[in-house]
Parts: sequence; structure tokens; C-alpha cells
Amino acid sequence: MTQKHNVDVRRRSALLGSAGAAALATLGLPVGAAAGGARGDVDTHIELVAEPGRVQIIAGSPTRVWHYRGKLLRGDAGALEVIEGGYLGPVIRARQGQRIRIDLVNALPESTIVHWHGLHVPEDMDGHPRFAIAPGARYVYEFTVKNRAGTYWFHPHPHGRTGKQVYAGLAGLFIVSDLEEAALGLPGGAQELVLVIQDRNIDVDNQFVYVGSASPGRPGRGGMMGGRMGGGMMGGGMMGGGMMGGGMGPMMSGMMGVLGDRILVNGAVPSRREVEQRAHRVRVLNGSNTRTLKLAWSDRTPLTVIGSDGGLLAAPLQRDYVMLAPAERVELWVDFGSWPAGATPMLASLAFDGGINAGGMMGSVTPLADGAPFDIQPFKVAAGPAKASTLASTLSAISAPQPQRAVNHQRPKLFEPTMGMMVWGINGASFDMLGASDYETVELGTEEVWEFRNEGRGSMMGMVMPHSMHVHGLQFRILSRSVSSAFAGNYESVSKGFVDTGWKDTVLVMPGERVRILLRFEDYPGLFLYHCHMLEHEDLGLMRNYLVRAA
Ligand code: C2O
Ligand code: CU
Repeated sequence: MTQKHNVDVRRRSALLGSAGAAALATLGLPVGAAAGGARGDVDTHIELVAEPGRVQIIAGSPTRVWHYRGKLLRGDAGALEVIEGGYLGPVIRARQGQRIRIDLVNALPESTIVHWHGLHVPEDMDGHPRFAIAPGARYVYEFTVKNRAGTYWFHPHPHGRTGKQVYAGLAGLFIVSDLEEAALGLPGGAQELVLVIQDRNIDVDNQFVYVGSASPGRPGRGGMMGGRMGGGMMGGGMMGGGMMGGGMGPMMSGMMGVLGDRILVNGAVPSRREVEQRAHRVRVLNGSNTRTLKLAWSDRTPLTVIGSDGGLLAAPLQRDYVMLAPAERVELWVDFGSWPAGATPMLASLAFDGGINAGGMMGSVTPLADGAPFDIQPFKVAAGPAKASTLASTLSAISAPQPQRAVNHQRPKLFEPTMGMMVWGINGASFDMLGASDYETVELGTEEVWEFRNEGRGSMMGMVMPHSMHVHGLQFRILSRSVSSAFAGNYESVSKGFVDTGWKDTVLVMPGERVRILLRFEDYPGLFLYHCHMLEHEDLGLMRNYLVRAA
């Protein structure tokens, strides 16, 4: 109770700083009322508990995980959907315009906070690591859903521990619907599938192995990871205690990112999914820490893409494969009627040139290198009759981006991943909890062009890796991509798989690539993050704040 009270007080002072009307409304409320769910001014109220647990995902010992358990305190029954059989958190469903309240309860043995990935919310609702709460504490989120219909998600964001916590199982989907989407009559109900794809290393005792350490929840000194940190390939000297101390963390192994050789879907080992011989809407999230996917049907049936990070595209696109970096989403329209009854289509990841991680040289413990091919989700097409389905040729109103409206249209801001002594950075600077430079300061109500440049400047030993660049608090547009000639060969194995025409919050930037994006900073002043979503890069400093300043 004391902790909760403290958190609420702190949150309220943060709210005072941003002083919106909603903030003032919250201020009048006695702290005690907060936990009861008795308020009438929200459409949905959910309690989300982050806690250790055990799930049976492989025959034998249950796997110790950390996961989210949701409880619907108010709202339509459909607002919270449990995904059975794995560790994945619930699917939260909201309609555009709804007022949502979510109480995060931290039942983990370390601090945490939740970020609503892709949602456009005020700074103190965004899950910045500065708002991380201690074990036993509660953080109250309340916001209006302003986003377009789309597949968003949530995951932890405590500084230096995001990779570890997501790996332990903390993640869930946040699906938004709106009227424009409803008018399309896209497949729903049993014809709407979600696939959250994650890779893990799993030991002989069925426990997750993160950076060569012990699994979550294993009894040991100091809880998760306690006592077993020395077991990794880097040896006890470098690994020992780093994680628990909250400092450098997983060192070299984590520098390059953690890759697993077991592919899980929705927090479980994928089993064959029987589908009717008709159209389905398939929402796919790459929830992996570092692994990039090259999604395709193994029989090379083209993919019909209808949505990306920020919802539906203007029109469907055909792709032979789709690149999906960590945290990116894609929505597919899949007509299983185009396979005969009894067919067993396999969604897979094809081979591509994964850059430096391909060799597995730098600390990855997995035999499955980045860019190696693997199966993901097998389907089985049920016996007919096939139901004919058609897809609208226009999905949503998205106008062409207008970069000339950006205040720095002539001089895009450059942001380059850089690597120093065992830490990552952006333009040479590592994460600074409350800091943002002048260069990282933007004016509320303006648009800017940013360029992510990944040419290995300032990298260690000339290593260049892909990065998955994410900007908090908004959806952006992709303006252009180009690749330097030195990397052009590798690039051909991925470049036909980008889905760049819609709204995005995360973008894959390949080795040698420059990607220009157009951002609009609206509604919410304050301090927001931008970072690489390869979580070990993020945890080791490939993350910075940007500050939206109100005029
Ligand atoms: Cu999904 Cu800052 O992250
Ligand atoms: Cu990165």
C-alpha cells in the first residue's frame, strides 16, 4: 500500500507537469479509489499482473516464465482475451475513442513498467523506464485510444532489463478497431488469427536460457538469474552479477543480441492449426528479442499484405516474402480456399543474409544463425466446401507523405547506431534516463524528417548489423531507402520484402542502409524514447530520448 501510494503520488506530480485536462481530472481522485475499479468514466478497466509462473510448453518439466495475467474489471467481455496454452499475455481489444484504464501490478522480484508499443499516448502513459515501479507496486495507466485500427502490443521497458523480461515471457497484443475497418467486413472470429513469433533457447530441463544464464524463476540468490550467471560462454568473470546489478548486463553475448533455436508461436511450441477453406485475417508480430524474420509460405504462394505496424494499408500488396524485424507487425489476408482441402501450408522464414550475426561468432549460443531458414507455423486446410472470399481493393484512406511540410525538410536529422566499449549508442551517445540533446528536441505540432543511417561508422571491428529502429509515441511514414554499394549484394536477399507504404512505428535498417522517415509530433509534449528494438542493443545503450517541446 505504501509503495502504491508513493507511485501514485509520483505519477500525479508527473501529470502535473504535463497539465492536460485529463490529468487534472485524475488529480481530484482519492488514492484509495484507484484500486477498486469503481470509477465510471472509463470504457474498459483491466488489472494486468506481471508475475512469475509455470507453463507446460514442452512435454516434461513445466517451463518457468514471467508473464502477464489480465483481469477485466470493467468493459465488454471481448476487451480481454486469454491466449490458452502458452506464456503469452492476454490480447487487449479496444475501439478507437475508448477510454482505457489499466492497473499494472508488479508481482515480479524486480522493477518493471509496461510500454504500449505503437500507441499514441501522453508521456507518463507510455511506459518510459523512468516510471519503472518496484516489486509490489502498482502503476495506473489511463488514456484514450487515438490510434487507427491496428495490431499494437505491450511489453516491459525497465532500463537494462527489457531483453531479459521479454525473453522470460512478458508480452501481449493490444488490438484496436475503428469504423473504417469495420466497414470492410474483414474476416473475424475464428477467421482472425494472431501469431506472435518468438525464438528461445530451451535447455534439457525445458527452461529458457537467456545469454547463457539460468532460467527465470530458478531459485537462487536474488531471484531470476541469481546464482547461475557464470554459466554462459563468456565465462563467470564477465557475466557474474552484471544483470542483477542493473549495470552492464549481459556483456558481449548481449551486445550482438540473443538468438534462440526454438521458434515459439503465441508462447507455445506451434502445433498444426486447422483452418477452414476460406479467407482469414492473420496478424503477425515478431516478438523476438533480436531475430529478424523473412516470412513466406514454404510453397512460395505469394503473401497478400493488408496492414503494417499502424494498421491497414491503403490497398493490399502482394509480396513473395515479408521482412519482419523485432517489434514489427504485418497483417495478412490469407485465402486458405486457394489450397485444396487437406493441404498443409507452412508459414516459414526463408534464408537471407543476416549480417554479422549470421556467423554466430559473437556470443550467440544458438546454432540457428540470423538469416537461417526455419519453419514457423503449420496449417491444415479442412475439408470443404470452400467459401469464396473477396478482398476490397481499397482498404483505408492514407494520403501520400508530404515531406515538404517538415521543418527540416532540407536538412534531415541523422541518427546512426554507434558502438563504443561494450555499449551501443546513437550518434555516439548512450541512453541517458532524463536527457535529450538540442538535436533531439522537437517542437510540438511540427513535422521532421529523420534518417537512420547504418553504415557502421564508429562500429567495433567494422561490424555492421541490422537494426530495428522504433520511435515511441507516434506512427511515422517511410520516405525512402538507399543502400551503399558495398552492401548491395546482401541487400538483395531482403529488399523485396519491405512493407513501407503504410503507418509504421518500427523500421528495419539493414547493414549499409539509410532509411528516411517523416514524423509528426502532435498532442503530447514530453520525453519519449527512440531506440533499436533488438532488445539487447536497446538494453546496452542503443536508445535515446527525444523531447517534444510545447511552444
Ligand atoms: Cu516496443 Cu521502446 O519499445
Ligand atoms: Cu540494434
